[in-house]
Amino acid sequence: MSNIHIPKGWEMPENEVTPESVYLNRREVLKAMGMVSLFAAGALPACSPPQSVIDAHPEINLTDLEKTVYPANRITKYKLDRRITAEAVAGSYNNFYEFSEVKEDVDHHAQRLQTRPWQVEVTGLVKTPKVYDLDDFLKRFILEERFYRLRCVEAWAMAVPWTGFPLKALLDDVEPLPNATHVRFESFHKPFLAQGQFAFWQPWPYAEALTIKEAVNELVLMATGIYGHPLSKQHGAPIRLVVPWKYGFKSIKSITKIELVDYEPSTFWNTLQPLEYGWEANVDPNVPHPRWPQTKEELIGTREVRLTQKYNGYSDFVASLYT
Ligand code: MTE
Repeated sequence: MSNIHIPKGWEMPENEVTPESVYLNRREVLKAMGMVSLFAAGALPACSPPQSVIDAHPEINLTDLEKTVYPANRITKYKLDRRITAEAVAGSYNNFYEFSEVKEDVDHHAQRLQTRPWQVEVTGLVKTPKVYDLDDFLKRFILEERFYRLRCVEAWAMAVPWTGFPLKALLDDVEPLPNATHVRFESFHKPFLAQGQFAFWQPWPYAEALTIKEAVNELVLMATGIYGHPLSKQHGAPIRLVVPWKYGFKSIKSITKIELVDYEPSTFWNTLQPLEYGWEANVDPNVPHPRWPQTKEELIGTREVRLTQKYNGYSDFVASLYT
């Protein structure tokens, strides 16, 4: 994240970008067939997966359990003010420094990540520490689809349909102790698989953190899916965080450990470059990055430039956290 990257390779003509209406129409077809709600309710065990997933991704092999949960019920409460970014654009312009510093190469290198089996340990200041595997998440929590904006600190932005469940539901499941003040998230550490982690001067594994008040905010999602199917590896399969009012680096990918603690944990970018990447990292157009302004953002795929909004437009949900 050392420089603002001027997008080049992934640019797509306007007419190749999936407008929200087209993405929604696909869902409407499924809905008309009665499939979305039935799948969301888990009422169709191990039957044919929804056509949209099959059509768009013949390469994705859904497990029987996944066939019952994707696509999830869409929550319309969280509105977008822009089109959904085309999946091909969002999936070929990624920040995942474990695999590459070149955004356009991440997709290729990230395919090495083995995402099954995958366990997430939830530990620390909780009454009932637990280790979940991926299927535990899919069975235990109700997945929903939400359209969110994502604003990268590098001044590019996108809008994507995530599938996941609120982090609060997970925290409720482990019962935080009263003295827990922060939640720390950690990614995998496998330098021989993810060669970016050989950079010994960087504080691997990637880690991020929220205050507990932030963590239980309704917007914070544990995402297991994107574009109606399980997360693609370059987006942080099999499970990642999504915190839409903070710069994208807070939304840590491929989580293996969540720890409740009573101190402010150190985080990857804030440790590496504290003067450039703050710990709190709320989107704020009035606070420039030391090397570029944050007043505007460029939408990947269309290159449309928009004014950046305080808290990335989510003030109604989060401003009260910071008064
Ligand atoms: N998580 C891990 N483990 N490693 C990373 O390098 N990059 C962050 C965040 N999560 C990163 C990460 C940054 S800087 C951004 S902008 C978003 O992931 C990008 O998410 P995307 O590639 O799905 O768009």
